[in-house]
Amino acid sequence: MDQDNIKNKVYIDSWAPMRTEDVDPDTLKHITAMIDLLPDLPVHVHKILKIVSDYESNSKEVARLASSDPVLASKILNAVNSAYYGLNKKTDNLRLAIVLLGYGEVRNIALRCGISGVMGSGRDYKSYSTRALWRHSYLVSVCSETFEKDKESDRAGVLLTLGLLHDIGKFALCNAALIMRKKGIKIKGVKHSLGSSYVLEKEQRLFGTNHAIIGAMIAKKWGLSKKVCSTIEYHHYPSFFCIDSISKEYVKDVAVVGISDQIVNTLAGEKNLLPEPSPEFFEVLGVDSPIDKVITQELKNKLEKAKNFLTYIS
Ligand SMILES: [Fe+2]
Ligand SMILES: [Fe+2]
Repeated sequence: MDQDNIKNKVYIDSWAPMRTEDVDPDTLKHITAMIDLLPDLPVHVHKILKIVSDYESNSKEVARLASSDPVLASKILNAVNSAYYGLNKKTDNLRLAIVLLGYGEVRNIALRCGISGVMGSGRDYKSYSTRALWRHSYLVSVCSETFEKDKESDRAGVLLTLGLLHDIGKFALCNAALIMRKKGIKIKGVKHSLGSSYVLEKEQRLFGTNHAIIGAMIAKKWGLSKKVCSTIEYHHYPSFFCIDSISKEYVKDVAVVGISDQIVNTLAGEKNLLPEPSPEFFEVLGVDSPIDKVITQELKNKLEKAKNFLTYIS
């Protein structure tokens, strides 16, 4: 799609984020070199990610892979032995722990464990706190899953994964910022045209790109499916572009993640980080717009419970 065509498809008329093809070639070279330096995911996490990125995932296989790593095994046991589960007696039985936690939770712990190992955890740079990022990603994944009625379905599992990974590019930006600060490197950012507080615009000013573009590149390096890469790349399109800017096969997943992201931000009192998603993206999911209509008491309770769980396990 050419630039003019895209511009015609901008949903709000004042500003739109850059797309991969808009990134300055020199900046792209720097970013690619930085991403090349990232280690691969541990083999078992890589396998889990591959499996759960596929609609035909196999929960038994995920459980088997998750139990093959001692660090991961201890994290799973810690979670099930936390006060949240209120077991009368602590258990060392990994199989029981996996049954009690459930397939989705085991997978989330596995992903978090593996990705923290690669991207680092507990690092902060200005508004990027890896701890806060994990918390946000987890809540978006829980919220995304609610858009699938059949919670046992593979699609529900895939939505959990997409939610968990959607902001993976922010971890890379956090690392890049810390490296740049240490080495005194300055990257040429793009000029801002709006002076807004949109997070994507701030990133583009600082890094000449944004976390959605970087996140998709990382997912590609890790060999994740086209669905995962594309959803990450387009997850903020609902706030800026019209629905036909996205290939039909990814529209629903992008809508789920984009709207869930906005729901979590709204409940955290950060509604103004991005513009409200376009009504077209609500329509495609069969829900009413605007965002406040999607935030039911039931959803609030679910997210509150998820937050509570996080305080016990992290
Ligand atoms: Fe994002
Ligand atoms: Fe997000």
